[in-house]
Amino acid sequence: MHVGLVSSLVSSIASVASSSSQAPLSIPQQPQAPSYITFSPSHEHAFTFLPNTSQPIALFRNSSLSCLSQEDQAPPRLRTVPTRVFRPRSQQAFHDARRLARTTGQLLDVPWEDDVIPGPDVTDRETVLLLAKMTSNAYTEPEKADWYPLGDRWNFSEPFGWEPDADGFRGHIFVSNDTVPTVVLSIKGTSVPYVAPGPSESKDKLNDNLLFSCCCARVSPTWSTVCDCFHGGWKCDDSCLSESLKEESLFYSIGTNLYNNVTFLYPTANIWVVGHSLGGSIAALLGLTFGVPVVTFETPGERLASRRLHLPLPPSDKHVTHIYHTGDPLAMGTCTGITSACNTAGYALETKCHNGQVIRYNTVEEKGWGVSIRYHSIVYIINYLLGEDWNATMPVPPVSEEYEKDCIDCYRWEFGDWKNGSSAACT
Ligand SMILES: *[C@@H]1O[C@H](CO)[C@@H](O)[C@H](O)[C@H]1NC(C)=O
Ligand SMILES: *[C@@H]1O[C@H](CO)[C@@H](O)[C@H](O)[C@H]1NC(C)=O
Ligand SMILES: *[C@@H]1O[C@H](CO)[C@@H](O)[C@H](O)[C@H]1NC(C)=O
Ligand SMILES: *[C@@H]1O[C@H](CO)[C@@H](O)[C@H](O)[C@H]1NC(C)=O
Ligand SMILES: *[C@@H]1O[C@H](CO)[C@@H](O)[C@H](O)[C@H]1NC(C)=O
Ligand SMILES: *[C@@H]1O[C@H](CO)[C@@H](O)[C@H](O)[C@H]1NC(C)=O
Ligand SMILES: *[C@@H]1O[C@H](CO)[C@@H](O)[C@H](O)[C@H]1NC(C)=O
Repeated sequence: MHVGLVSSLVSSIASVASSSSQAPLSIPQQPQAPSYITFSPSHEHAFTFLPNTSQPIALFRNSSLSCLSQEDQAPPRLRTVPTRVFRPRSQQAFHDARRLARTTGQLLDVPWEDDVIPGPDVTDRETVLLLAKMTSNAYTEPEKADWYPLGDRWNFSEPFGWEPDADGFRGHIFVSNDTVPTVVLSIKGTSVPYVAPGPSESKDKLNDNLLFSCCCARVSPTWSTVCDCFHGGWKCDDSCLSESLKEESLFYSIGTNLYNNVTFLYPTANIWVVGHSLGGSIAALLGLTFGVPVVTFETPGERLASRRLHLPLPPSDKHVTHIYHTGDPLAMGTCTGITSACNTAGYALETKCHNGQVIRYNTVEEKGWGVSIRYHSIVYIINYLLGEDWNATMPVPPVSEEYEKDCIDCYRWEFGDWKNGSSAACT
C-alpha cells in the first residue's frame, strides 16, 4: 500500500526549512471561542470499511458500500475551544534537563510559560472525526482511494517522509486556508508486514518495541531484544533503557526536529499534532515537549516512554487527549502474552498507561464489542465509532483523567541500576 510513490509527492519540507533548533516557537492568535470552521463537501461519495475482519490493520476503501452516517452530506466542521497549554520557556533548558536527568538522575526545574490558544474541541464529534480522517490520511497519499477528502479548507497538504528511500517517520501536514492557518501535523502509525505493508515496517517495529515494551522486548528467552538491558529474572537496567532511547534516528528525535521545521514554516499558525498508534505516541511526546494541542487515536501507553526519555512534566498535560476504546487490546495494553497476536508478530506492546486526558469509549460493555486487534484500525474507528453519536445523551464519551490515575506499567519488573554495580531500585 505504501509502495509506488508518486514523484510529485516527493517534495519534502526538508528542502524548505532551515536549521531546526533555532526555529522560533509558534505565536498563536488570541482565542475566540467557540469558533467554527466549516467547509462544503467536495468529492464523490466514497466510503471505507474493513473488507475482512481477519485483516486487522488494513486500510481499504470501497465506494459501493454505504457508511453509518450522513457525514459527507453535511459540511464537516472543526470546532475550536480556548485551550490552556504549558510550554517550556526554552527548548535548550528542556533538553539540558533531560540530559542531566539521564546522566546523573538529578531533576532540574524547567521554567514553563502558559498560554491560552485555540485547540480542537474534543467533545465535538465532528471535530474528532475530521482529525481522525487526517490521522488516517497519514498512511496514504492524496491520489489514493483510501485518502479521505477533507474539504476545500484543507486543500493544501505537505507530505513528509515519503521519499522513495525513506524508511521511517512519515505523514502529512495539513494547512487550512485561513488567514491565521490551522496546521495539523499528522503522524503515521506502524506499517505491518503482510497486513498493511510499507517500507517503514522495520523502523516502526524497532520504535514500537523500544517505546512500549518493559525491557527491550525481552518477552521470552527466544526473543531477540532491541537493547541489552535485561539483567536476569525480572530485573531490567534503568539507565541502559534511557540510553537506548537516545538515538537521533529514533522517531522522538525526528519528530522534535520536524516540529521545529513546521513552526519555522508556519510561524503564526495554530499548530496541532495528531497520530494513530505509534504515531499517536510520538504526537503525545511532542505535546509534552512543545506544549502543543495533541489528539491521538488508539495509542499504546506512552507514559513509560516519556519517563525513559526524561521529559520534564509540565504543570498540566490536559492539552494532550488520547481517544481509544476498550475493545482495542493495543491501546488497553492487553495484547500481551506469548500467544497474543502482538507477540506472535514480534511486537512487545506491554505498556498501558497514558499521560494527558483520555476519552475512552467503553465499546466492550456499552456496545457489546469483543476485544480484537482488528478494532485497532483507524478506519474502523472512523466508520464504526465516530460515524454517529456515542449515545442519545453524549456525542462523545466524557473526557477524564481518572481512568489512568492508578495505572502501573510493567509491575512484574524491577528496574534499577543493575549494570553499574549498585542494586538500588528506582522506578
Ligand atoms: C477472510 O476471513 C476469513 C475468515 O474470517 C478467512 O478464512 C479468509 O481467508 C479471509 N480472506 C482474506 C482475503 O483475508
Ligand atoms: C466493493 O463492494 C462491492 C459490493 O459489496 C463488491 O462487489 C466489490 O467487489 C468491492 N470492491 C472491492 C475492490 O473489493
Ligand atoms: C477557503 O476555502 C473556502 C472553501 O473553499 C472558501 O470559501 C474560502 O473563501 C477560502 N478562504 C480563503 C481565505 O481563501
Ligand atoms: C486552496 O484554496 C485557496 C482558496 O480557496 C486557493 O487560493 C489556493 O490556491 C488553493 N490551494 C491549492 C494548493 O489548491
Ligand atoms: C528539518 O529541516 C532541516 C533543514 O532543512 C532538514 O535537514 C531536516 O531533515 C528537517 N527535518 C525533518 C524531520 O524533516
Ligand atoms: C452515554 O454514555 C455515557 C458514557 O459512556 C454513559 O455514562 C451514559 O450512561 C450513556 N447514556 C445513555 C443514555 O446511554
Ligand atoms: C555508573 O555509576 C557511576 C558512579 O555513580 C557514574 O559516574 C556512571 O556514569 C555510571 N555509569 C552508567 C553507565 O550509568
